Order: sequence, then structure tokens, then C-alpha cells
Amino acid sequence: MHIDVDQTLRWSGEMTCIRYHEPTGTFLIIAIDSTARGPASGGTRAMTYENVGSAIADARRLAGAMTLKMAAADLPMGGGKSVLALPRPRHQLSADEWKRILHFHAANLELLNGSYTTGPDVGTSSADMDVLGRTTKHVFGRSTAQGGAGSSAEATARGVHASIRAGLAETGRSSLAGTTVLVQGLGAVGARLCELLAEAGAELLVTDVHPERCASAVALGARTVDPGRVTSIECHVFAPCATGGLINSETARTLPVAVVAGAANNVLADAGAAHVLAEREIVYAPDFVANSGGAIHLVGREVLGWTAETVSERTEAIEDTLRTIFADARTRGITTEQAAIDLAHARLAAA
Ligand code: NAI
Ligand code: PHE
Repeated sequence: MHIDVDQTLRWSGEMTCIRYHEPTGTFLIIAIDSTARGPASGGTRAMTYENVGSAIADARRLAGAMTLKMAAADLPMGGGKSVLALPRPRHQLSADEWKRILHFHAANLELLNGSYTTGPDVGTSSADMDVLGRTTKHVFGRSTAQGGAGSSAEATARGVHASIRAGLAETGRSSLAGTTVLVQGLGAVGARLCELLAEAGAELLVTDVHPERCASAVALGARTVDPGRVTSIECHVFAPCATGGLINSETARTLPVAVVAGAANNVLADAGAAHVLAEREIVYAPDFVANSGGAIHLVGREVLGWTAETVSERTEAIEDTLRTIFADARTRGITTEQAAIDLAHARLAAA
């Protein structure tokens, strides 16, 4: 496998920490993209990668998205991300191996001394944050029993729900009733999103690479679809809630939907995809705005001392933020992605 080292190193973020944990064969990457608005924060993603170059690239891209997310949500934090590039899928690691990896991660968080605070992401949970929290205080999303804000999935799902409402309004629809929504990825966020959508009267199509995870949505009346066909299924809304990188310029050309709004980070795989979606008048809710409910919950509760009600109000306000972004994109003839980036950059420039 050839890795373009120059390309890998070309990044304008503030810092990348790369460590190798020999006993388990795990690479740990912590990317700090920006501390302009405050200490960096972003979750810990634990999964396998094709090679360490891909893991570094993923950590940096995700850290950049966190910078935009914090700024667009007007939270006083910067952007960062951790990647634990595992030697085998997590479920194949022994409990002891996983514990050692988390201890290694916690020790590195201590070394960074608060310039970066982690939290849950794909492959990690509040229970894992509790383990990190025994060694370091630079961790959000510990269980409520341990004094943390608990899982961010509920707020993320509510924020995505608000984003879907904003997207549909942009297409002239005033309600979710009677619309068909395809939810990809029935994990913590996707499963809860399905409940909210079903309550609002949407018809659900669902898919997951672990089909058993669709059971709770099927019990709500959802129909399952083949995970390999997600970009070719006709529906009003596509809500990607698995891993990102699904929509590129090619798939955007034929995507048979009116709105894209989901929880996955880095949904767009290349710079051209947002333009193709805009040309086809598909409303795209930029991921770092649509999925900011989790950050609002964690930072709101643990840094800003917000009540659950304030978190809820700020999460529902994602709908207004997106309506402003959509209007700005229309007025200036730019993509919704660009309008959201401009909003975030204006706040970063003011910091
Ligand atoms: P999760 O790990 O609980 O769920 C992800 C689900 O997607 C799993 O059930 C998995 O089997 C499924 N999946 C993976 N690849 C798939 C594929 N190709 N096709 C269909 N299903 C697939 O993760 P969670 O917490 O629900 O997060 C979902 C996404 O939202 C992630 O990209 C995460 O980074 C993002 N996100 C999550 C936040 C949170 O508060 N949990 C906050 C902001 C973003
Ligand atoms: N990983 C989630 C996200 O991408 C939640 C999170 C937000 C974790 C902020 C840490 C800090 O938004």
C-alpha cells in the first residue's frame, strides 16, 4: 500500500499526536485542529483502518469538522478528535486489551493537559469515558452516575430531527407527516431518530450492516432496505447516521431524494459533491450543523452549566440556524455547505 507522505503531512491544523501502543498494536492519533475559540474537543473514534495514513487523515478531517461544529453552534470550544486505530475490530479484542488501550489514551490526554478534551464517538461509549475519567479529567460524556452528562445520542437525534424539519421546509413541506425518510445506521443516534420520526408521522425505511439493529424501528412500522443500495432508494429524506464519506460527486448525481440531513460526520466525500447536490436542488443540511446536538449537550452541561431545558432549546434552535444557512445560500447563489462554513469562519475570525 503506497502512502503519499507529503500529502499526509500537508495539514494546517495545530497539532497531531501519534503514538503506538506496542502491547496491543494500536495506533493512537489525537488531532487538534484549532483552539482559536477555546480548548479543542471532539470524540474518540475506535475502529480498524486500512493503514495508519488513513487513520491520521480521518482524525484530522474529523477534527476540522469539530472546529466548524463548535463555531456554528456558537460554543466556546475548538476542534479536535482522537482515533484509536485498532489491530482488530473492537469486538475481537479482549476486555483486558481494551482496558489497556483506554489507559494509554488517558495517559496521553493527561500529557495534553487540557488543550484537548475527548468524548464518545463511533466505537466508544459513556462507559469507556468513565474508564478514561479515572485517570484524567479531560473527558466529556461520562455516565451521569459518575458525574458526567451521559450519552450525547439523544440530543444528536433531536438535532437531526430539527434539521430534517428545516430541510423539508426548504422544499415547501410544512410537516413530516406522510414523508418517507431513509435512516442509514441504527446505532445510538439512528435508532432514537427513528422513534422521533415515527412520532411525527414519517414513513421509515431503515438499514444497518448489523440487520438485528433494525428490530426496534421495524417494531415501529419501518421497512428494511439493503445496506448496499442506500444511495439509490427513492425517498423524501436521506438521513445518514452511520460513518461518513457516502456521497461523492458521482453518487450525488443520481441520489433520488429531496433532502439530505443526518448525524454522520463528513458525509460528503469530495469537494464537488455539495455543488452537484445544489445543482440538482437537493437540500443538504451540512453535517457539522445537523449533528451538533451532541456537542451542545456535552459542552452545554459540562462546561457552561446549562440545564437540560437550555440544552433542549439550543438543540431545537438548529432548525433556525439551518433555515438561516439555507436562505443565505439561496441569496448568494452558493452551496449550503459553503454558507455553513462561512458562518463558522466568521465566528472563528471574531475569536
Ligand atoms: P453507533 O456506532 O452507535 O451507530 C452506527 C451504526 O451504523 C451501527 O449500528 C453500525 O452497524 C451502522 N453502520 C456502520 N456502517 C454502516 C453501513 N455502511 N451501512 C449501514 N449501517 C452501517 O454511532 P452513533 O453514536 O449512532 O453515531 C452515528 C454517526 O453520527 C457517526 O458517524 C458519529 O460520528 C455521528 N455523530 C454522533 C454523535 C453522537 O452524539 N453519538 C454526535 C455527532 C455525530
Ligand atoms: N463525537 C460527537 C460529535 O462528533 C460528540 C462529541 C461532541 C464528543 C463534542 C466530544 C465533544 O459531535
